[in-house]
Amino acid sequence: MTKRNNHNVPFEQYHEPAGELPEEVRTFARICTSLIEEAEAIGWYEQRLALEKDPQAHAIMENAQQEEFKHFAMNLEFLARRNDKWRTVLQDVLFKEGDIVEHGEQAEEELG
Ligand SMILES: [Fe+2]
Repeated sequence: MTKRNNHNVPFEQYHEPAGELPEEVRTFARICTSLIEEAEAIGWYEQRLALEKDPQAHAIMENAQQEEFKHFAMNLEFLARRNDKWRTVLQDVLFKEGDIVEHGEQAEEELG
């Protein structure tokens, strides 16, 4: 069994036999894994920033977290370009005022 957070052991990102998966599905899965890792890193930096008292260390970590925002956004955009249904949901939910759950429900209805 592989473990996450150990750089010597790859994270098992496939739930089906990799050899049977089309190349584009393997790429999609890799980017999904990257998206998860970027979100985790953002959360970890958020916790560190909340506690760090040294201004220089705080600035370094804040800069690093900003990099993770960019990485997350690029991964998400890649995935949205490869999956029309996901793109539709993102378009219906993201960057809109109002109730997030309502937007989610509307997006689900739109998918049918
Ligand atoms: Fe990153």
